[in-house]
Amino acid sequence: MTDFKQRIFSGVQPSGNLTLGNYLGAIRNWVTLQKSYESIFCVVDLHAITVWQDPAILRDATREVAAGMIASGIDPKECIIFNQSQVPGHAELAWIFNCVARMGWLNRMTQFKEKAGKNRERASVGLYVYPDLMAADILLYKATHVPVGEDQKQHLELTRDIAQKFNSDYGTDFFPITEPLILGEATRVMSLRDGNAKMSKSDPSENSRINLTDDRDTIARKIRKAKTDSDPIASTVEGLEGRPEAKNLINIFAALSDRRAGDICAEYGGQGFAVFKRDLAELSVSILGPITEEMQRLCEEKTYIDQILKEGSEKARAISAPILKDVHNIVGFLQS
Ligand code: TRP
Repeated sequence: MTDFKQRIFSGVQPSGNLTLGNYLGAIRNWVTLQKSYESIFCVVDLHAITVWQDPAILRDATREVAAGMIASGIDPKECIIFNQSQVPGHAELAWIFNCVARMGWLNRMTQFKEKAGKNRERASVGLYVYPDLMAADILLYKATHVPVGEDQKQHLELTRDIAQKFNSDYGTDFFPITEPLILGEATRVMSLRDGNAKMSKSDPSENSRINLTDDRDTIARKIRKAKTDSDPIASTVEGLEGRPEAKNLINIFAALSDRRAGDICAEYGGQGFAVFKRDLAELSVSILGPITEEMQRLCEEKTYIDQILKEGSEKARAISAPILKDVHNIVGFLQS
C-alpha cells in the first residue's frame, strides 16, 4: 500500500516537569519534523494515570506540557497539539488491541518490568497494557512514522506486531507498519549528578535535572554544580569513555550548539572544567531562557492553552473518526 500520507505521531506524559531531556531528546526534534510531516503531538494523560496522579496536579501538568511544546516552537497552526483523553478513540482502539496483542508479547516489555519492579502483583493493569494504548495512539491516525528515543523502541516494535497481526487476522492491509524516526545522533541526556542514570523528572535530587520551568539563574547554577571528574577534558570523543559525567556535559553542549561532540572536545580538550562549565551555563541560559520564560507566560494563560487543546482534539477526532469507523467495520461491529 503506498497511499499513506507521511504522518508522524508522538506523545509526552504529563507526569512531573518537562526536563532538558524531554527538550533535547524529543521536543526539539519535533520542531524540525513539523515542517516536513503532517504532525500530531499528544499529551498522553491516559498513559499518565497508569500510575497514581493527583487530579489537580495532572490538570496543571497537562497544560504545562502543552505550554512547553508551544514555547519550544511547535506551532499549533501547523500541527495538532491535544490531550489524549479528549479523543475517546484512543481508549476504544486500545481495547481492540488488547484483544489482538498476546500476553507473551506484553510479558517481554522491559519498561513494565522496570516500572512494576518487584511489586508486579500491585502494579495497575493499565501499566501492563500501556503498550497497547501506545499502539492505539499511533494507529488511530495511521501514523507512518514515530520519532522515538531508545527507551520506546520496544513499544514501537510491539505497535508493528499489532498492526501486522490485525492485518493478517482480518485479511486486510488496513494499518501501516509504522517506522521509527531516529534523528541524527539521538541525544540521551543523563542526570547531572550521575552520568549513568537518565535525566528524569522523578529523580529525588533537583540538581540532577534542568526543568523547563527553571529560571535563568537556576539553570546556570545547576550546570555549574554538575558533577564532573578531576581529569582534564578529553580532546577526542574516545577519551570520554568511562567518564559518563564528562561525556554527558559534552553531549549537552554539542546538542545545544548544534555542533559535534568531537568539535567540543577539540576546543576544550586539555583544560579543566571551569571555563567549559561557564560557557555551557551561558549557552544553556541563552537557548533555554527564552523558552522557559515563554512557557511560564503561557502557563498563566490557561484559557488560551485549553482552547489550543480543544481545537487540537477536534482536528484529531476529525482524522481518527473515519479510521475508527473502518476498524469497527473490519472487526464486525454493527454501526448505524
Ligand atoms: N510511551 C511514551 C513515553 O513514555 C509516550 C507515548 C505515548 C508515545 N504514546 C505514544 C510516544 C505514541 C510515541 C508515540 O515516552
